[in-house]
Amino acid sequence: MMFAVLAISTATGPLTVNGQSVSTPNGHTNSSKQARKKPGNRATQRNAADWWKHAVVYEIYPRSYADSDNNGTGDLKGIIDHLDHLRALGVDAVWLTPMFPSPQVDFGYDVSDYQAVDPRYGNLADLDRLVAEGRKRGIKVVLDLVVNHSSDQHAWFRASRSSRTSPYREFYIWRDGKAAGQPPNNWTSIFGGSAWKFDPTTNQWYHHQFYPEQPDLNWRNPKVEKAMFDVARWWFDRGIYGFRLDAVDTMFEDPQLRDNPTLPEMDAYGEPRQRRIYNVLMPEMHAALQRLRRVTDQYPGRVLIGETWTSKPDELVAYYGPRNNELHMPMYLELTKMPALSASEFRSRIEAVENNSVGGWPTFALSNHDIHRAADRYTPPGMSSDDVAKLVGALLITLRGTPVLYYGEELGMLNNDPTRVEDVQDVIGRKGWPNEKGRDGERTPMQWDGSANAGFNNGTKPWLPVGPDYATRNVASEQADPNSVLNWYRALIRLRHEHPAFSGDYVSVNRNDPNVLGYLRVSSKGTALVLLNMSPQQAQVSLADADVKQVRSVRLARGAQHEASDVRLEPFGVFIAEVDRATAP
Ligand code: NOJ
Repeated sequence: MMFAVLAISTATGPLTVNGQSVSTPNGHTNSSKQARKKPGNRATQRNAADWWKHAVVYEIYPRSYADSDNNGTGDLKGIIDHLDHLRALGVDAVWLTPMFPSPQVDFGYDVSDYQAVDPRYGNLADLDRLVAEGRKRGIKVVLDLVVNHSSDQHAWFRASRSSRTSPYREFYIWRDGKAAGQPPNNWTSIFGGSAWKFDPTTNQWYHHQFYPEQPDLNWRNPKVEKAMFDVARWWFDRGIYGFRLDAVDTMFEDPQLRDNPTLPEMDAYGEPRQRRIYNVLMPEMHAALQRLRRVTDQYPGRVLIGETWTSKPDELVAYYGPRNNELHMPMYLELTKMPALSASEFRSRIEAVENNSVGGWPTFALSNHDIHRAADRYTPPGMSSDDVAKLVGALLITLRGTPVLYYGEELGMLNNDPTRVEDVQDVIGRKGWPNEKGRDGERTPMQWDGSANAGFNNGTKPWLPVGPDYATRNVASEQADPNSVLNWYRALIRLRHEHPAFSGDYVSVNRNDPNVLGYLRVSSKGTALVLLNMSPQQAQVSLADADVKQVRSVRLARGAQHEASDVRLEPFGVFIAEVDRATAP
């Protein structure tokens, strides 16, 4: 969805990257010899029941990753062909956005069969091979379970709409209108217009939070719950390691269908905005998710990740369940909504998650297939997006909690938004143009090399245009460049996996600094200091403010220099070091 890139003017003029005296031959400091002595660590963690706490999860949008059969859209074989890239990056699990059969109105989020693979992407044998090839490389596969709605082409909905007495009628939410031609209430769809569609076959309206082609399932019907839990079991039995649960906050609606209060401002589609108090975050979803957790717990090591949009800490806490018995990993997505980098804003939000009252495990994401790419959101005009990409990468990978990394972020890929409505693929972009340009820009093909179509395929026009910077921003060329964003990510993930501090606590330091976000990662086996200059100005941090007695060794730095008792940081500079703490914990 659209995010405005905030213009921040730079007081420092053109950016000069500070050549680091502390760098290793790969251009980044990374003296992990010590950690490399224990290669067993990571393998053990990967197989433990709580492997996901030590994991880096990588999100793949299958249409856009790699097109092995050269038909313009990506596929499962394409992903298999590139597993070695993920292994070299250090990824532990991939989350595939929906690859089930689908009319593709919402590019897979309209599922017409939950237990198969869309022929555009391959078949079940390809998926099994992806699981097996992933396993060989220590990479687990997580699927995207679209729980709130199906496609209108799903057999359940086709039966449901066929007659008021169909056994599947109650699988969806059907109601009479308020009066002739009037929907049952004022709810609007997240994708614009009324959330109800009239169906002349039975003269009733059905509810859809998203497109009309995505009718909402009726989770108050136990048969729906059973059907979806059976789907989950079926995939667990097939070796799938978990699910990212789509749009969980919309699973339930007010049974009395009360109108939502309207707000004075308009949405991107020209309707008054609403406070969605009667069709979002209904408390009943928690009991249903806790029952899904009980199903999941029958399969050791399986994990539930939530697409959980929560602006208040309490709402996030609720998704863990009162006894940590609901979602393992409700994603904290608030950081994706921050319009600009701001140390104070990020600090307070991260602390709210860190201090959640049930001790739930944090899960962070900074970009995904619905959000402008992070480097795009946060790079002020005239400054280097690679520097910003490295900064946000350092944040995501060094926080406690599991990072969910969107494909292409490891290259510093930028949005490539359509400039003409006739080029838009994402329906909301066509409906909302020009206020809402849709999500095409963050879904462009992965950039593998400098050949035609960035190596995404063999020359057929890709479903979305390749980013204009592909000749230099691609896996092949970044691999060869010691200072690339890709090598930075590889070094970061290696450090996270190998250095014991990164299995430790998060301790906020340098707390009054509006520009530099600082924290320690503290374990009994070592402490690391992370300083992130979130501003386009130079900055200086005293080690005393960072609760550091001495810097033992600088592990990774970009645009940062350690002097006697200070660290100096260039705009968007990053400093990560092994340290001794000044105060006892
Ligand atoms: C959230 C998904 O991330 C988005 O891509 C999709 O359009 C909606 N849910 C509806 O399924």
